[in-house]
Amino acid sequence: MNAQDVILTYSKIYETINIFPFIQLHQLRVAKVAKLISGMVTKETNVNNIVAAGLLHDMGNIVKINFDSPLAKESLRFDEHGVDYWNGIKEEHIKEYGEWSHTATENILKKLEIEKPVVDLINLASWQHIQEVIDGDDWNAKILAYADYRVMPHGVSSLSDRLDDLKKRYHTDDKEAEEEAKKVHDSYFKLEEQLVKFGLKPDEITDESITFIEI
Ligand SMILES: [Fe+2]
Repeated sequence: MNAQDVILTYSKIYETINIFPFIQLHQLRVAKVAKLISGMVTKETNVNNIVAAGLLHDMGNIVKINFDSPLAKESLRFDEHGVDYWNGIKEEHIKEYGEWSHTATENILKKLEIEKPVVDLINLASWQHIQEVIDGDDWNAKILAYADYRVMPHGVSSLSDRLDDLKKRYHTDDKEAEEEAKKVHDSYFKLEEQLVKFGLKPDEITDESITFIEI
């Protein structure tokens, strides 16, 4: 399936794979933020690939959701199914796609036969590859990686608020892990600087400004 087909049929795709609504919304917001940024930067980009990758980049994430957490409970407040149903779907996804979110996403993309450029972009734009993205010249990956770090569970945020939120959610007493996390966080600020040099206006990315972005 190519990027254009993903953009045209993403709701159907979410329905077929049974993507948790909160993850759907996150992916949609990231795709919109990424599209907005693509229009700001003066570098040549492939908007369709960026948007399609944004729409699919966390497809396997239900496997790592803790449905007892306050955030998950809050996200289920208006859900028609409830926690038992989604815990069941989580178990099904772990069985079918794997217990690690990254592997689960990869396997879902394989099942959907998503074309290689979109899959490669999703892999490259993950935080594990942030240094490679900064050092490299792939502006699609720079935009997608940054867009993912401008969307909090409740909507668009500044980069520092998003990083603070991640720090709180994934806090550990392991010193080495904390230092590694700090390095990654610094990298995202470097990435923001790179994008600003080529037209990004960080303050113009808000919940309001993405409202009118059409996917
Ligand atoms: Fe994400």
